[in-house]
Amino acid sequence: MATLVTGGAGYIGSHMVHALVDRGETVVVLDDLSTGFEAVLPDAATLVVGDIGDEVLVGGLIASRGIDAIVHFAGSIVVPESVADPLKYYLNNTVKSRALIAAAVRGGVGAFLFSSTAAVYGEPTVDAPIGETVAPAPVSPYGWSKLMTEVMLRDAAAAHGLAYTVLRYFNVAGADPKGRTGQSTPNATHLIKIACQTALGQRAKMQVFGTDYPTPDGTCLRDYIHVTDLVEAHVLALARLRAGGGNLVANCGYGRGFSVREVVEAVRRVSGVDFVAEVVDRRPGDPSALVADSGLIRRELGWVPALDDLDGIVGNALAWEAALARRNSAPGAR
Ligand code: UFG
Repeated sequence: MATLVTGGAGYIGSHMVHALVDRGETVVVLDDLSTGFEAVLPDAATLVVGDIGDEVLVGGLIASRGIDAIVHFAGSIVVPESVADPLKYYLNNTVKSRALIAAAVRGGVGAFLFSSTAAVYGEPTVDAPIGETVAPAPVSPYGWSKLMTEVMLRDAAAAHGLAYTVLRYFNVAGADPKGRTGQSTPNATHLIKIACQTALGQRAKMQVFGTDYPTPDGTCLRDYIHVTDLVEAHVLALARLRAGGGNLVANCGYGRGFSVREVVEAVRRVSGVDFVAEVVDRRPGDPSALVADSGLIRRELGWVPALDDLDGIVGNALAWEAALARRNSAPGAR
């Protein structure tokens, strides 16, 4: 019994690899290292540097390593980039996922866990937490590229007996509380990372995109979930798949929102630095509120989040950002 983790050297994938290794599982990571880092992986995981779209490579791994489950994180994730370069997203997220699913079917892999996104919901018209019964309506190539993979899994499962789980992430943030890994991509665009970098003096100031949204303080609301809780949901979902649980498509969020201003205040509070956050115009394509209805995942997986605390999320993100800065400035750092 071994798990293949695609994108395992990336932000969320590396947390999953640590969680599986911590539980004594055998893990093979497949990552092309385009945005991932070998340094964040535990020694016990085997890293294969390669392309998830290479069916021969994946087929060989499945056969030679006894892979019975695939956890698929690899992909491109920057929404504005997907608008500018959609075919990159349909290649990396859709076409290559098709090859991976084909290799899984051919190799008799019984369990497939896929990381999807709240971006499949597009601009929700409901003024309430979003449940899975809300019809997907992506507004970006990124969202479409992920939704297409959901559809392929649904149809391949019906035709070939593959069992799958799709988790639709809301805003993933924070870092491993033990400091072993975190968000390492230099040009990440996510709010909590940018606010932490500003607090640490790596940026002179940050920007708040829009204060005229129909929300209590005028800034956008998001459901920020600690990456370690998200990964715990994956561990539970994998166990459920291996135990023969049925196919599942579930949101992964806490079910509560924080505004951009509240996040900025939390980062100021936790860091003790009163950094500059200047108000600018709205960023195109931002929905005013994206909050998960998390009832299904709690019921189906028995998932009980342990780290639902904004200051805690920010504290772990700050610690990781500081460690990353020290590492990058060390002699010999790349
Ligand atoms: N924001 C700022 N300043 C910044 C960065 C972000 O004000 O410097 C604001 C954004 O405008 C938005 C909120 O902070 O209102 C959150 O923005 P993020 O970029 O952190 O995250 P998004 O909500 O845009 O994106 C997330 C995931 C995507 C997913 C999307 C679904 O990161 O993968 O939700 O819409 F597709």
